[in-house]
Amino acid sequence: MTELGTAARPFRVAIVGSGPSGFYAAEALLKSDKVIQINMFDRLPTPYGLVRGGVAPDHPKIKSVIRVYDKIAEHERFAFFGNVKIGEHLPVNELRRFYDAVLFACGAETDKRLSIPGEDLPGSYTATAFVGWYNGHPDYRHCTFDLSQEVAVVAGQGNVAMDVTRILAKTVDELRETDIAQHALEALAESKVKEIHLVGRRGPVQAAFTQPEIKEIGELADCDPVLDPADLELNAASQSELDDLKNQHSKRNLAVLTEFASRPAPSKNKRYCIHFFKSPVELAGSGKVERVILERNELVGEPFKQKARGTGVREELSCGLFFRSVGYRGLPLPGVPFDETAGLFPNERGRILESGAPAPGLYAAGWIKRGPSGVIGTNKPDSIETVQSMLADLPGLLPCEPPDSGALRELLMARGVRAVSYADWRKIDAAEIERGKLRGKPREKFTSIEEMLAVLD
Ligand SMILES: Cc1cc2nc3c(=O)[nH]c(=O)nc-3n(C[C@H](O)[C@H](O)[C@H](O)COP(=O)(O)OP(=O)(O)OC[C@H]3O[C@@H](n4cnc5c(N)ncnc54)[C@H](O)[C@@H]3O)c2cc1C
Ligand SMILES: NC(=O)c1ccc[n+]([C@@H]2O[C@H](COP(=O)([O-])OP(=O)(O)OC[C@H]3O[C@@H](n4cnc5c(N)ncnc54)[C@H](OP(=O)(O)O)[C@@H]3O)[C@@H](O)[C@H]2O)c1
Repeated sequence: MTELGTAARPFRVAIVGSGPSGFYAAEALLKSDKVIQINMFDRLPTPYGLVRGGVAPDHPKIKSVIRVYDKIAEHERFAFFGNVKIGEHLPVNELRRFYDAVLFACGAETDKRLSIPGEDLPGSYTATAFVGWYNGHPDYRHCTFDLSQEVAVVAGQGNVAMDVTRILAKTVDELRETDIAQHALEALAESKVKEIHLVGRRGPVQAAFTQPEIKEIGELADCDPVLDPADLELNAASQSELDDLKNQHSKRNLAVLTEFASRPAPSKNKRYCIHFFKSPVELAGSGKVERVILERNELVGEPFKQKARGTGVREELSCGLFFRSVGYRGLPLPGVPFDETAGLFPNERGRILESGAPAPGLYAAGWIKRGPSGVIGTNKPDSIETVQSMLADLPGLLPCEPPDSGALRELLMARGVRAVSYADWRKIDAAEIERGKLRGKPREKFTSIEEMLAVLD
């Protein structure tokens, strides 16, 4: 049998997902000394995952990483199959017929719930949907948010919560020249929201947001940060967390929060109120969200392991808009083992595990491998680790039959699936940039798959 990974028989790898982890895995595979053919699938006609559909429109520099991904896509042994949803257009067992190994880099596409009464009342939304909506993701283009309300509450204090609250707090002039979806810009231009509450269950030392993001809140054109200085008082365990020499993250955050607490009374039109030590325990209202009930917490446990524990002391906050932003969660994919509790594909160093043992030829990278945490760069070493596992397994992998991308294309065509190549994507990309010029934006995204495909016809 011809050896896999040679010019005579290249190693054929399918990567499912074209976000950062998919591209970093492709890069690591193409840099190896084996001859490897990569086909990358995405359910959308557009690549880049959350770099396109998650990263906030007012943070354009972060998106420049796509230049690195475009370079990887130029490799002669790389091909893109956009607009192909694995598990729907092509079941996993069928996909496996065409590849020696499959690497899932399909991210964490849904969100965690708070599991509190009233969570599904109208007026209660997810950060996932709001982010997808303002970023023009086709799944969320038809979402509506009741921006006629004056008070919005966001639960969670990660950087996604910072994005959501900042977009609500900015003036339309601060967003106009970004690549924000036009439907979102128009809705936000009519927004009546003037009070935004960012609610964290633990304290300022434990807050997940990072310093540049919290600092930005103090620099908004028409919104003042508001903070109760009493919330900055620390228990002994939090003080020792702060004193830890390695903990620069909390020190930087606390410096910004302390400066906010010392500011004179707010004078701008909007207020950004930061709450610590509070958990939403119920959303209430007649037929829609009218108030959130918050329970005061105390922190218990060792330094760096402190948990929030309810004290029984409750307060009500009137609000008409509520967003949960308490983390993303992976979705199951038929034909791939799934860990229901953690919401990811169970794996060891990227080898997907079935009943505790590696499932031959199946791998995972990125958020579906380790859970929904980490910035874009975190995915690079993570994907490299998975590729190392894959290459170590290569000699024992069963070669697929037949190793033929043409047959796969024919199969997709027969099913009426219009696979989008990287050259096709570049046409969509150029059309979006052209549309953006008319409005002084870097691009105007197409928000439906039909519109994207129409560019190619
Ligand atoms: C709202 C938000 C903002 C963020 N902002 C920043 C930031 O400013 N800076 C930063 O460094 N990090 C940021 N991050 C983190 C960063 O985006 C992630 O670390 C990174 O995107 C995770 O990469 P991934 O490849 O694992 O998943 P993703 O980026 O989610 O990519 C997964 C891809 O898989 C595709 N897919 C899913 N299912 C299928 C299927 N069945 N078939 C085919 N394709 C499929 C999806 O369409 C998607 O393209 C942000 C995250 C979020 C949620
Ligand atoms: N600008 C950027 O660089 C940027 C932007 C967006 C996202 N990202 C990255 O993307 C990743 C995901 O971000 P994320 O904000 O979704 O997640 P995250 O950073 O994990 O934050 C989740 C937040 O939700 C809280 N939470 C979780 N369960 C809760 C519950 N039941 N009740 C109340 N609060 C709860 C957490 O509090 P506890 O701490 O108490 O658990 C935390 O404040 C992060 O690594 C983030 O840095 C980066």
